Amino acid sequence: MTYAEAERYLKELSQTQILRFWDELNEEERKNLLKQIESTDFSVIDNFYHHEKLDGAGRTEPIQGLRLADIEKRREEFVAVGKAAIRAGKVGAVLLAGGQGTRLGFDGPKGAFNIGITAPLYIFEQQIKNLLEVVRECGAYVPLYIMTSDLNHDATVKFWREHDYFSYPADYVRFFVQEMAPAVDRDGKVLLAEKDSIALSPNGNGGWLSSMQKCGLLDDVSRRGVEWLNAYAVDNVLQRIADPAFVGATILSGCNCGSKVVCKADPHERVGVLCLQDGKPNIIEYYEMTEEMACQRDEKGDLAYLYGVILNYLFNVPKALSVLDRKIPVHVVEKKVPYVDENGEKVNPSAPNAYKFETLILDMVRLMDTCLPYEVEREKEFAPVKNATGTDSVESARVLLQKNGVKL
Ligand code: UTP
Repeated sequence: MTYAEAERYLKELSQTQILRFWDELNEEERKNLLKQIESTDFSVIDNFYHHEKLDGAGRTEPIQGLRLADIEKRREEFVAVGKAAIRAGKVGAVLLAGGQGTRLGFDGPKGAFNIGITAPLYIFEQQIKNLLEVVRECGAYVPLYIMTSDLNHDATVKFWREHDYFSYPADYVRFFVQEMAPAVDRDGKVLLAEKDSIALSPNGNGGWLSSMQKCGLLDDVSRRGVEWLNAYAVDNVLQRIADPAFVGATILSGCNCGSKVVCKADPHERVGVLCLQDGKPNIIEYYEMTEEMACQRDEKGDLAYLYGVILNYLFNVPKALSVLDRKIPVHVVEKKVPYVDENGEKVNPSAPNAYKFETLILDMVRLMDTCLPYEVEREKEFAPVKNATGTDSVESARVLLQKNGVKL
């Protein structure tokens, strides 16, 4: 792309401010900027102007799921089926670790955060310890695909190498990089991170499967005969990965995906809730629920919209691949994004100043047509590390780890 082409292109998009410092750039910087303009997908910015109603936001109803007591009754059967699938190499895991973790404010990949007190215990390490329990139980390794972003890829790979993959066999670990999206200011104008570069941030966790495809990892999935992928968040230190009972229950349910859920602690808990919309599974955010829905009770007196998602999903691979081309909504998220202002000064905002564009894995569930809500005990499986202090923080996660017998 030449300067003239870039100028014409950006004029059409009303984004010529990207070239504001062109005259100050050296040859190398100019080349970088042009390359970036060419490779950036600016089409996501349309979502800033058109907040479309989410696809299928129709008639909403509660969904039936497997409660703890149901699971207990059939545990042996579920575990047997799950273990057989894992032993047969049909189950893989996808660690979503491409986020920026801005709320935690840790300068490095979130999984490299040391949650230990008397001895180091990294989040990645704790999750692998949990996975190794399954490996021992089943006598087979689970292939692990780790999603990073341009911002943390090198640091993540280096960290895993330095720690010898936390005793997981390197042959079963693959890294892949997700895509980036431009951030815009409150007027919809793309921000510059430097005079010669656009402010880009990871484009959400919803594109994991297409990123795997772009990075050639679906060949690995098919070569190994993986039929189910368990996608999970990096920031839950009690995450149970490739849990045989969950795998078995999902397979036996005949659903195309399963979602681990916790019962909502109160009607207004700020968590996405699994429900049915126009007969299909969907996750609605707490702020999309009416007061009436949030407080609605079933005949047993439980909340009707009970199942809070914890970002641990099991997807059937052939079904997920069959809907790979279908679009999922792009969410416009308000965030703090450092930028270079019109005077060329770097600004590090202390409050949200910009919008990022993200697709979310939870929107994939709808495309799967059927989903099994599978209840887990909050205290045993859900210890999110989102903030440095307070709710869902390092402190609260430490308390839960200790309750589960982890020595810190
Ligand atoms: P969050 O929604 O907590 O986002 O991610 P985040 O970017 O990590 O954190 P904040 O909001 O800036 O504090 C939930 C999970 O999805 C992954 C995260 O790494 C985490 O495991 N994720 C998020 C990605 O893999 N890519 C993304 O673009 C965003």
